[in-house]
Amino acid sequence: MARVALVTGGTRGIGAAVSQALQSAGYLVAATYAGNTEAAKAFASRTSISSYQWDIGDFDACAAGVRTIEASLGPIDILVNNAGIVRDSTLHKMTRPQWDAVIRINLDGVFNMCRQVIDGMRARRYGRIINISSINGQKGQFGQTNYSAAKAGELGFTKALALETARLGITVNAICPGYIHTEMLDAVPQDVLERSILPHIPVGRLGRPEEIARAVVFLAAEEAGFITGSTLSINGGQYMI
Ligand code: CAA
Repeated sequence: MARVALVTGGTRGIGAAVSQALQSAGYLVAATYAGNTEAAKAFASRTSISSYQWDIGDFDACAAGVRTIEASLGPIDILVNNAGIVRDSTLHKMTRPQWDAVIRINLDGVFNMCRQVIDGMRARRYGRIINISSINGQKGQFGQTNYSAAKAGELGFTKALALETARLGITVNAICPGYIHTEMLDAVPQDVLERSILPHIPVGRLGRPEEIARAVVFLAAEEAGFITGSTLSINGGQYMI
């Protein structure tokens, strides 16, 4: 029986590449999305991966969504917490809603999702949790106090949960992508991208979603059982830690 993998924000950007790579690796994949139904439908018809709509910032919606997926596909053995948003602003202009939205989706969402699958993983003594954090949680980023805080929080969460689950066959790891060519980058002004970001990427280009997906497949494997609590940086050499 194929193991079931759930990818949040799995119908677009990095998440879509992750969903497809896991499918190609033989997993039965479910992808969640928040609101872009058109993109989700196009993704589902292109890949035949089933997609489910709910707000990962809503704990009860996560509980109901996970129940639905497990009832139709089986227990979730692999959880990829990929969904994320940006609301960039320097702190002196940041509004409370901009702060709250980013913490709610990017950090609360990780708790909300892990909390739904952890009991089953513990009972089955198997699980793979992969959190998609960010280079900006590692190094900080001008204009992203909210996002950097959430993404750094995700790294602490990863290590703490890795400790709690290490003896139970469950691994918990983080991937920190650098600047990847996705729609999320549309929020960055072109001049900022050209002046302040691209020149700092030693590889000399943006990353590709498939380059993150490849690492997720690596960490999701049964053979990756000795890798836990780790942070894998995939950023073209932009930040070495
Ligand atoms: N470093 C230093 N100074 C910077 C800067 C930087 N990176 N970016 C802007 N500034 C300077 C500007 O040159 C300007 O200076 P002057 O006033 O002397 O001209 C000043 O800061 C502007 O400050 P403001 O508070 O007025 O900022 P703003 O309203 O113009 O907007 C911003 C600033 C929202 C941060 C905008 O620059 C921006 O969107 N930057 C991109 C942030 C970014 O990298 N986001 C990543 C999104 S992708 C992602 O997050 C995925 C991932 O995981 C990697």
